[in-house]
Amino acid sequence: MSSSSALAAPTTPAALIVDGLRKEYPRRRSLFARQTPPVKAVDDVSFAIAPGETLGLVGESGCGKSTLASMIMRMITPTAGSVLVGGQVVATLLPREVLAYRRKVQMIFQDPYSSLNPRIRARDLIAEPLRIHRLAEGSAIQVRVVELADQVGLAASSLDRFPHEFSGGQRQRIAIARALAVSPQMLVADEPVSALDVSVRAQVLNLLADLQAQRSLSYLFISHDIGTVAYLSHRVAVMYLGAIVEIGPAKAVLRRPHHPYTRLLLEAVPITHPRQRTRRREVLRGEALGASAAGVGCRFAPRCPMAAPRCLTEEPLPRTLEANRVVTCHFAEHTPELPRGETIT
Ligand SMILES: Nc1ncnc2c1ncn2[C@@H]1O[C@H](COP(=O)(O)OP(=O)(O)OP(=O)(O)O)[C@@H](O)[C@H]1O
Ligand code: SF4
Ligand SMILES: [Mg+2]
Repeated sequence: MSSSSALAAPTTPAALIVDGLRKEYPRRRSLFARQTPPVKAVDDVSFAIAPGETLGLVGESGCGKSTLASMIMRMITPTAGSVLVGGQVVATLLPREVLAYRRKVQMIFQDPYSSLNPRIRARDLIAEPLRIHRLAEGSAIQVRVVELADQVGLAASSLDRFPHEFSGGQRQRIAIARALAVSPQMLVADEPVSALDVSVRAQVLNLLADLQAQRSLSYLFISHDIGTVAYLSHRVAVMYLGAIVEIGPAKAVLRRPHHPYTRLLLEAVPITHPRQRTRRREVLRGEALGASAAGVGCRFAPRCPMAAPRCLTEEPLPRTLEANRVVTCHFAEHTPELPRGETIT
């Protein structure tokens, strides 16, 4: 494993290992600046997820969450580092191994409407993966479709409808049924409830929690909303500008954040439940600016209320502060506790 991956090992053998993963995108060329450095969308990220575990990945827009998910799903190729599932490096799978990988790891997207073909009825949308992976034949396909629909809370009588005839929450249930059809070991869920009405978010989150308990699924659960992540996750990883700045058991991180960024996220959104937003204070101001122009120092320094001169000249390395908790901050021990009543329970 890479240097940063003293990180966050789950206590049981891993279902997924992400090791020193990087993705750089070339920046758009400008007439005046020919030599611009690439965007480091994912910058040396390492973690592991145990069977049956949910790792929640939280961070604001543009921090690299979807880029990370796309590398896990083999939709884009890493610049460096690797994703391992079942001991196999995902990027170098042979074509004949890719179908088997798709059965192990499935993805759920933010917008089920764009991920479902609008001209195909729900019945056939759910049957499609069964046919592609040859998991059922003939009349057994329809029996299995009805079973899957039932597992995600869709009535058998609704299966002849097209996607636009369902609500957003129901469409996400169709997408979940499609993912479950291949009996995966892991779901990568990229903002799966962000596009849904607040009133149905908890229902879909509860469904995901129930399915995990029944099937011992592993989840990488991605959201920009730390309250949603807290609801479902066993461990939480906090991402900032391409890097994981804090990772650890969900309860411990949320009750006593050690990274100033995690603390600000929690202070901005004190939530006890996805449906109960008590109040929202905009304490996290400004755009993510990146590390100093020279590319040295802490990437969070331009927004950090605790920044000191050392933060501008020396990049902090990941440090284990307590059991299973890794934080990338020179002064993590000094991060003030959250005021009483502002922790997520
Ligand atoms: N194909 C691409 N080409 C160039 N830059 C890209 C590309 N895809 C993403 N980026 C850049 O990489 C960074 C990370 O983007 P990404 O979509 O992974 O973030 P995100 O955390 O998923 O954001 P959001 O919460 O808005 O979905 C951003 O700066 C983005 O502009
Ligand atoms: S290293 Fe310095 S700037 Fe970075 S998060 Fe810690 S205190 Fe803030
Ligand atoms: Mg995204």
